[in-house]
Parts: sequence; structure tokens; C-alpha cells
Amino acid sequence: MSREIDPALFRETLGHYPTGVAVVTAVAGDGHPAGMVVGTFSSVSMNPPLIAFYPMSNSRSFAVLRTAKTFCINVLASDQEALCRQMATGGEHKFDGVSWRPGPLGSPILDGVVSWIECTFEDIREAGDHFIVLGGVQELAVERSTLPLLFFQGGYGRFSPGSFVAAPDPELIQAAQLAEKIRAQVEQLSVEYDVNFSVVAKVRWDAVQVLAANQSYAADPLPLGHRQPLIPPFGAVFMANAPETDVDEWLQRAQDHSEERREVNRAQLEKVREHGYSLLAAGTEALRRHQAALNAFELSDRLPRHERAVQQATSELADFFFTDLLPGEHYDLENIVVSIPTKEGVPAMALRVTGLPAAMPTELIESWIERLKKVASSS
Ligand SMILES: Cc1cc2nc3c(=O)[nH]c(=O)nc-3n(C[C@H](O)[C@H](O)[C@H](O)COP(=O)(O)O)c2cc1C
Repeated sequence: MSREIDPALFRETLGHYPTGVAVVTAVAGDGHPAGMVVGTFSSVSMNPPLIAFYPMSNSRSFAVLRTAKTFCINVLASDQEALCRQMATGGEHKFDGVSWRPGPLGSPILDGVVSWIECTFEDIREAGDHFIVLGGVQELAVERSTLPLLFFQGGYGRFSPGSFVAAPDPELIQAAQLAEKIRAQVEQLSVEYDVNFSVVAKVRWDAVQVLAANQSYAADPLPLGHRQPLIPPFGAVFMANAPETDVDEWLQRAQDHSEERREVNRAQLEKVREHGYSLLAAGTEALRRHQAALNAFELSDRLPRHERAVQQATSELADFFFTDLLPGEHYDLENIVVSIPTKEGVPAMALRVTGLPAAMPTELIESWIERLKKVASSS
């Protein structure tokens, strides 16, 4: 028998082992589709062909799944994180809005998965607080040869090859080309206003700096290529023209999934949509904590647990993003960000100003925003 192990140490240590993510589906005894997300899917034997997964013994989802005769392992693709989150929540609405078709033996094959493996239940054994479910493979296929979704340290990601040849990123190239069109204007404005400018593009779920025009006095301007994960309330300007599915995914990226927090982030997004810009207050403790978390994240090879610290620190900035300026007021701003209108197929982009003077009067901020919008729309 194993000796007593601290559960936190167990989770922490085992969490350093990555897994893929699969949804086990079945049509339950009551005729309804059922499913559960598992990271513990693995191949077991070739002859006879067997696979396994390990549901918790108290899992309600598995209690339903086992009432079926057959089940299907659906291997999720890297763009199916939202589906994964939906399937991982308990309750009756897991299949709402999910498209699927019955496999050869009738178990649901979810649209867009990488591959599926339809099985019969060969054996269900107890193993501590889990079951070991052995599946006899009956039918299987690769559906879509694309990157699978990976799970590591509580975070989702995707495989990147260890090749030393950096893969060109089409979105990044498009963004850099577009930024090039406004380079002269951005550089001129940077000199005229004596501030730092950058053009930032949404590449997957990062804001990536693709052009920088810095004044030399700036202590620590953000370098070209600087990346920052788009976690609400950060990144609303990139969501201004985004389809609702993207907005939903952005809102999901917040650490706090409560309805209340979602509403606050959505309301902030509506303001940014209406005004076309976003402001961030300077000099707050929350901002310093956020920058420290972001640095640790970059230095750690972007480990999921550091990303969670960034999520936490970003959510603490919620009260410091704003759009409404009061007449006659003065503001200390960390940055002004104006969205750049882009055509379909080109990533969302924004123009960001940092290194701003202290106590800027409302009228000055407003006149700068107008100039920035002019430059942004000339791209
Ligand atoms: C990435 C990921 C991997 C998971 N892996 C497993 C697993 O291997 N076994 C398991 O029992 N639950 C796993 N879960 C949890 C279940 O999907 C599900 O959330 C949980 O079973 C819900 O409780 P219920 O089964 O009582 O409805 C995983 C969840 C996620 C998000």
C-alpha cells in the first residue's frame, strides 16, 4: 500500500505531467447524449485493441455514461477549449449548442474533434477513488489532422515543435505589414507628443507589439515582440469588432467566472465599443503587481501557474480601466489605447500610447484621442 501523501503535493507533482483532453460520450440508457471530459485517456493494448480512462468513482457523469452499451472517446482539438469548458461543467446542458453525429455504434462523435474511438465496455475496475475503465476498440478514425488540445498545470495549450526554425505566423506578418503603413505618422506623433507609441496586434490570445516608436528618455519601454495574454478586463479594444463567439471566449478567460464579473467586463467592453478607446490609470499598486506577474510569466516560459497569477493580477485592474472623462478634471494615465479598424482576415489591432505626462487635463486627452483615431484609421 502507498504511504500517506499530501494531496496538494500529489496534485502539484502530477500536474507537471501534461495530458491531452478527451470527451467521453455515449447515448445513455434514457436516450439522451451524455459526456465527460477526461485527461486520463490512454492507449493500453494493440492486441486485442484496448484503451482506458479513469473516471472518479463519485462522478455523476460517469454514472450516466456507464448505463450505455458503447462509448466514444473524442480527442479535442486545440481550438476546442470552449467546448471543453462546457463539457466539464456538470448539469444537463452540456450538449446545448454542441453539434454531433452518431458513430457506427451510435455514440456521439462531436464536430471538429481530432479523432474518435468508439468502444464497448470491457471492464470497469475500482482503483482507489477512481475507476479504471477498459474499452474494447470497435471503430476509430482521425477526423481532422490538426493540433490537439493539451492540459498542463491546470491550463490549456497546444503542442509547439522543438524545431529551431521558427514557424512564420501569418497573423503576425499581416499585422506587421499593416503597422508599417502608419509607421511614419506614429513616429512623428511620438516626437511631437514626446511619448512612446506602439502598435499592438491580437495574435491568438496575446496582444503582441508589432511596432514601437519610443522616446529615448523612457525608462523601460516595452520591447518589440512583447506579448501580453488577453485576459479581461485587458484587451477590450481588440474585442470591439470581434464576433460574439470571440467575445465569449475572451470573457471566459477571466479568472472570476461569476455572472457579476462577466457583466462588469461586458459593460466595460460596451463602453470601449462606443468610444473606440480605453484608458488605464497610472501609479496604482494593482498595476505594479500586474507588471510583476507579467514579468514572472514571461521568465517562466509562460507556465500555466504563472498565467493564473497574471489572470489574478489582471482582474485586479478592473477598476482602473475607464473611458469616461469628466470636464475640467486631470488624470494620471498609464496608457491610452485606440482601436485600429482592420479588414476581415486581418487580426484586431490597436495603437497604444505610454510614457504620458502626469495630470493630463480632460481636454488634452480628448484632443490626443482624436489625433490617434485619425492615425489609426489611415492604416
Ligand atoms: C482537462 C480536464 C481533465 C479531466 N480529467 C478527468 C478525469 O480524467 N477523470 C475524471 O473523473 N474527471 C476528470 N475531469 C473532471 C470531469 O470532466 C468533470 O468536470 C467532473 O467529472 C464533473 O463532475 P461529475 O462527473 O460529477 O458531473 C477533468 C476535467 C478537465 C477540465
